[in-house]
Amino acid sequence: MTLVPLTRRRFLATGSGALAVTCLGALGACATVPVRRITPVNGRIELPLLQHPELATSGGALRVQVPGSDTPIDVLVLGTGQYAALSPICTHLGCTVEVQGAYLVCPCHGSTYERTGKVVRGPAERPLRRYPASLSSSQVVIIELEGTAGDA
Ligand code: FES
Repeated sequence: MTLVPLTRRRFLATGSGALAVTCLGALGACATVPVRRITPVNGRIELPLLQHPELATSGGALRVQVPGSDTPIDVLVLGTGQYAALSPICTHLGCTVEVQGAYLVCPCHGSTYERTGKVVRGPAERPLRRYPASLSSSQVVIIELEGTAGDA
C-alpha cells in the first residue's frame, strides 16, 4: 500500500474538510469550525445568514476556503450584526491559528489573538490580517477582499 501525503488542498478536495477540528492541547477539549468553499464575486465573499447559520449564532465561526487560494479566511461573530474576517496565518512565523472559543490560538508557539485579530499573548507582535466585513440589510455577511485588508 502506498501512502500519499495529505496536503491541506487534498484534504479539502476530498470533502474531508467539511469540518476543521481545533483542540485545546492543554485541556484536551476539541471544537469544530465548519469549512465552506466560497468563490468570490467582484472581490467580495457573500455569506447569507440563511445558508450559514453559524454566523447567526453568538460565538459562531466559519472558515471560508477560496478556490485557488491556499489561505482560508476565518469569519467570526463578534456581536449582534458585527463580524471579523481574519487571515488565520499567525504573524509570528506563519502557522495556521485555530479558533478556540473567544480566542484564536497558534498551535506552534502559543500566540493568542482576540476574535478581532488583536494579539493578547506573544510571541506574535502584530495582529492578524483583517478584511472589512459587514452585514447587509438583507442579512448577508459581506467580506471585501481587494485592496482594503489591514491589521486589526
Ligand atoms: S508561528 Fe504562531 S506563535 Fe509562532
